[in-house]
Amino acid sequence: MEVTVSRKAHFNAAHRLYNKKWSETKNNQVFGKCNNSNYHGHNYELIVSVKGKIDSNTGYVIDMGYLKLLIKNEIEERLDHKNLNLDIPYFSEVIPSAENICIYIYDILRNKIDKNLSLSIKLYETPRNFVEYSG
Ligand code: NI
Repeated sequence: MEVTVSRKAHFNAAHRLYNKKWSETKNNQVFGKCNNSNYHGHNYELIVSVKGKIDSNTGYVIDMGYLKLLIKNEIEERLDHKNLNLDIPYFSEVIPSAENICIYIYDILRNKIDKNLSLSIKLYETPRNFVEYSG
């Protein structure tokens, strides 16, 4: 019997959607306001879900205290109040779209969570726009 447990988190970050290989005109055509050269910010809402069997010794799928700390130390500390394009080396080569941020977060957390547990990341860029990645 498998159960999914989830933890919500939050960070604020700035970004700009811009493809280095394209002209300014093409970037403006494709990304519009998202290509503002002075960047713009989002209040990102993150939902980290872990699915697996309940450990009969604890009654837990995963210790929520551990998950909370993991998200705080590995994601919030890294991304909160950052300019994703300028402050996070990964996004100097990868466009920091919600899709790519979601994969970035997944890859970091995947390495820190028991391989017997499934991981799924949901990232809200706005209250209405969100992306999901499960590997
Ligand atoms: Ni944006």
